[in-house]
Amino acid sequence: MLISLIFSFVLSAFSIVFSTAEVLRFSSYYGDHMVLQKAPAKAVVWGFGQTGAKVVVSLSGPHNVSTHSAPVINGIWRTTLDPVEAGGPYMLTASQNTTNSSITLKDVLFGDIWLCGGQSNMAFTVSQLINASEELAMASKFPDVRIFQAALEKSEEELIDLAGVEVPWSRPTAELLGGKDFTHFSAVCWLFGRYLYETLKYPVGLVETCWGGTPVEAWSTPRSLHKCGLKSSMTSVRYRPPPAQSQSYYLMNISSTWRSSVLWNAMIHPLLNMTITGAIWYQGEANTGYNRDEYNCTFPAMIDDWRMAFHEGSDGQTALDFPFGFVQLSTDHENDPLDGFREIRWHQTADYGFAPNERMKNTFMAVAIDVPDIKSPWGSIHPEDKEDVAYRLVLGARAVAYGEKNVSFQGPFPTQAMLNQSFISIVFNQDINAIFFNDYFFEICCSKDNICGSEKNWLPVPIIKHGLNYVIVSKPPCAAASITAVRYLWTDWPCQFKACPIYNSNGLLPAPPFIMAITKP
Ligand SMILES: *[C@@H]1O[C@H](CO)[C@@H](O)[C@H](O)[C@H]1NC(C)=O
Ligand SMILES: *[C@@H]1O[C@H](CO)[C@@H](O)[C@H](O)[C@H]1NC(C)=O
Ligand SMILES: *[C@@H]1O[C@H](CO)[C@@H](O)[C@H](O)[C@H]1NC(C)=O
Ligand SMILES: *[C@@H]1O[C@H](CO)[C@@H](O)[C@H](O)[C@H]1NC(C)=O
Ligand SMILES: *[C@@H]1O[C@H](CO)[C@@H](O)[C@H](O)[C@H]1NC(C)=O
Ligand SMILES: *[C@@H]1O[C@H](CO)[C@@H](O)[C@H](O)[C@H]1NC(C)=O
Ligand SMILES: *[C@@H]1O[C@H](CO)[C@@H](O)[C@H](O)[C@H]1NC(C)=O
Ligand SMILES: *[C@@H]1O[C@H](CO)[C@@H](O)[C@H](O)[C@H]1NC(C)=O
Ligand SMILES: *[C@@H]1O[C@H](CO)[C@@H](O)[C@H](O)[C@H]1NC(C)=O
Repeated sequence: MLISLIFSFVLSAFSIVFSTAEVLRFSSYYGDHMVLQKAPAKAVVWGFGQTGAKVVVSLSGPHNVSTHSAPVINGIWRTTLDPVEAGGPYMLTASQNTTNSSITLKDVLFGDIWLCGGQSNMAFTVSQLINASEELAMASKFPDVRIFQAALEKSEEELIDLAGVEVPWSRPTAELLGGKDFTHFSAVCWLFGRYLYETLKYPVGLVETCWGGTPVEAWSTPRSLHKCGLKSSMTSVRYRPPPAQSQSYYLMNISSTWRSSVLWNAMIHPLLNMTITGAIWYQGEANTGYNRDEYNCTFPAMIDDWRMAFHEGSDGQTALDFPFGFVQLSTDHENDPLDGFREIRWHQTADYGFAPNERMKNTFMAVAIDVPDIKSPWGSIHPEDKEDVAYRLVLGARAVAYGEKNVSFQGPFPTQAMLNQSFISIVFNQDINAIFFNDYFFEICCSKDNICGSEKNWLPVPIIKHGLNYVIVSKPPCAAASITAVRYLWTDWPCQFKACPIYNSNGLLPAPPFIMAITKP
């Protein structure tokens, strides 16, 4: 059995090499209408050819003409272009001397490439959006935002090239953005690229590579899982029972089994040789019931590992600390505080509560806890409002990735929680807009033994007053000595739509959930 498996594997690997050896081609993710990474980085270009031949790659366009040549080694050629400023269109030609063949890619632009990864909330398409028809109608007005999507593939081995392409590099059209549910094109990815383009005013290339229902382990290398004490293994992703109205969507690819690293192998590893600006990520639901307590390690470790691998794969052209944005989980179950969402939200930040932080440098986070959607036709786990999520991600990208100084991208975060005789005051790092303050959004841990792990030790307390940058909550009915910690928005579904208690001063960015120790005077 094992021998025949090995045999068939060797045979298929052999036939792939054999059948493609002579033919000059670009790798699967180079094509007409593509975006290559602009200056100051250099774009890496590679493909397949005849071993021993020479491939000459030439770029011609409005500003620059350049020629590079590369030997074909083991059936692969690869070259790094000179830096090219944003713009286009360019033609990129590869010619192989032994066969006198050449291929030309047309309408190639230079701009910033962003990778979009994660699970179904990233796969969620533009046509599923709340204002889908308006968004689709606008698609063709953004010909400089280009899209590409990898097909869904798994592999037990690291692949050199993608095994399939769902959407080849294209200018956006209503048809391509409005594919059937959870196919193409990702709403969060598209909106991120489109909003970013409105700021950058130069081409943006979006590379979607995501799969619904997938745990972080499937997207991670064995080496990064080992750093978190995990062995490569089968992951059985299980969810709590879905709301009845959304059974079919909810179950789509969700109660599935995933082997560690299979999506890293097939859908990330092949892309390492491309120069990129950064990545955005919307995932975590599939880890609410699987390796949940390790997510504070596995997620930051995956980011570190991807950064190292993309840097190496591009010969240093992709930054070693490339910016990485992510969406903090939204909501799923209205009356289920214990379904793991609150822990994953916290773990997404390596338990800091905000991003970037000491552990997760050069990251940014879009908070989504305040856009719950009980009526989503795709199940409440898939809120239809992705506009706010993408808008918040773009604020983070502008501040963190593009260094814009005056862009506020983080909601208020507490610097201190202090108990005096009759109140607990929580001071924030910026001015706040406290809107809905008569509810029980804050909880205080009352525990003689300083054990806040038990739910029964947490008592809800009302906000009784708020000021420019602080709120005051009442003291729970327990001894001052036993008051140890405060937490905020610590359930799956704490607020209704855009109605969490605390936002930043312009009212657009909610304070994320947090848990912190209470100091005593
Ligand atoms: C193609 O280039 C290779 C490597 O430079 C060289 O060895 C070979 O002779 C060339 N073949 C032809 C037909 O020009
Ligand atoms: C042309 O190429 C040079 C060097 O390769 C680079 O410094 C310059 O920015 C390029 N100009 C444009 C307009 O792309
Ligand atoms: C390639 O083209 C050149 C010039 O047209 C010719 O001399 C040569 O024989 C051709 N080589 C092959 C392998 O077809
Ligand atoms: C949807 O469109 C309406 C009308 O243009 C607008 O008021 C609303 O804010 C949009 N919703 C989102 C989530 O963008
Ligand atoms: C579910 O998986 C199948 C095949 O594995 C794939 O064809 C389909 O598109 C996936 N659906 C989603 C929502 O990811
Ligand atoms: C991750 O969270 C778990 C569970 O809360 C905790 O025991 C562990 O110390 C945390 N690890 C890291 C690296 O923060
Ligand atoms: C792409 O990068 C990986 C990782 O550095 C490397 O193993 C692989 O050989 C590269 N592939 C090509 C075609 O350069
Ligand atoms: C940021 O805002 C301040 C005050 O409004 C202004 O003086 C400064 O020039 C702005 N900086 C940038 C980089 O826009
Ligand atoms: C407790 O703190 C609140 C808010 O800062 C303040 O109004 C009150 O006077 C304080 N009480 C004592 C006894 O310090």
